[in-house]
Amino acid sequence: MTSARIVRGRTLSFRDDPRRDDAVVSHDDGAVAVRDDGRIEWSGPYPDLPAQFSSTAIDHFPDQIIMPGFIDAHVHFPQHRMIAAPAEDLLAWLNRFAFHEEARYGEAAFAAAAAERFLDKLISHGTTSALAFSSVHKVAAHSLFVAAQRRGLCLITGKTLMDRNAPDEILDTAEGGARDSADLIARWHGVDRLRYAITVRFAVTSSEAQLRAAGDLYADNPGCLMHTHVSESAGEIDFVKQQFPWSRDYTDVYDHFGLLGGNSVLAHGLHLSERECQVLHDTGAMVVHCPTSNNFLGSGLFDIDHLRAPGRPVKVGVATDVAGGTSYSMLQTLGEAYKVAMLKGRKFTALDGFYLATLGNARGLGLAGEIGTLERGAWADLVVLDPAATEVMAARDELSESLEDTLFALMMLGDDRAVRAVYIKGGKVHGKE
Ligand code: GUN
Ligand code: ZN
Repeated sequence: MTSARIVRGRTLSFRDDPRRDDAVVSHDDGAVAVRDDGRIEWSGPYPDLPAQFSSTAIDHFPDQIIMPGFIDAHVHFPQHRMIAAPAEDLLAWLNRFAFHEEARYGEAAFAAAAAERFLDKLISHGTTSALAFSSVHKVAAHSLFVAAQRRGLCLITGKTLMDRNAPDEILDTAEGGARDSADLIARWHGVDRLRYAITVRFAVTSSEAQLRAAGDLYADNPGCLMHTHVSESAGEIDFVKQQFPWSRDYTDVYDHFGLLGGNSVLAHGLHLSERECQVLHDTGAMVVHCPTSNNFLGSGLFDIDHLRAPGRPVKVGVATDVAGGTSYSMLQTLGEAYKVAMLKGRKFTALDGFYLATLGNARGLGLAGEIGTLERGAWADLVVLDPAATEVMAARDELSESLEDTLFALMMLGDDRAVRAVYIKGGKVHGKE
């Protein structure tokens, strides 16, 4: 149990997509009042703080932005050491680095220590929730759940299903993978703030028998998420076509095996056709934009307007994809999303970005009302951001004339140095003076 407290400063939260009217809620002198149980009781302008909180302890952050903690909608726990390892494309990078590193995670002690380091990194970058890939090993996902539970985090992960086209030491079987997943669902799904994601690495590394078993698990456990990758690189798309010659396209493979639905989360989606977008729209799946990864691996440029085309808009989220991604910072990630949008001739405002990294991702992960908002009843998972954290930022901040201006500079120039404090369930877990 945490104790009640007030966090005071410049508050920012979203009621809805900022492209809609009245979606942005911000107070220059605002406050968030946290209950004993770690949920938000009230937020609004500080002068309107209800009398019941008059003797509650206050953490005051003048000139800092207090907002819901960031949600990373796609990140790889067992890749946290191999960030910034270059290769010519996705498949070369997987074969050269990722698969070998992930092989280590079958060792319980190694995985347990790595889980702590991974969560420390998320938190120090202002990320309070994540949908994380684990490795193929049951023990690795278990270790991450244990570490997240101890910290009271809202976290979603799952054992990765992969039974072909990778080194033997990181392959499972269709039956064994389904059995391990079912065991982990029974042990962890819905325990405290933890949820399970049925995790298919990508169509390249699963046999038809495994995809069928994953589809059955998803049908049997409708509260779980389904987490995978789709349409990231040209080489990968060709490989999928060869392996599933009957498929209309990449998305059709997942659709065929019952893996698409309102709880499905697919990373990348860079080269999706009109037909694929229609299927993703119809099923309610979310596609997650991972700009630092896409640029680093040369995978392609995400087209946000194509995904969200009126008539068949696909739900879009945003994520780091560490370690294809090159930063844990959701601020850096939003800055890169802005540059990708510029290269595509698209509009991506700071409000678009901060919405996606909070309420947008929460909605896509089925966690609206729980995280990603300062509204009453949500968990008080908060990040406090300093718009003048570095000399460069401080100089730029002097010129900011509006909230949107301040947020824009934060997403272009900010990183973990801009994270002044982080709260989980109202308890301070990270802070800089
Ligand atoms: N596709 C399949 N596995 C991976 C992975 O580990 N990272 C990325 N970026 N794409 C993938
Ligand atoms: Zn990924």
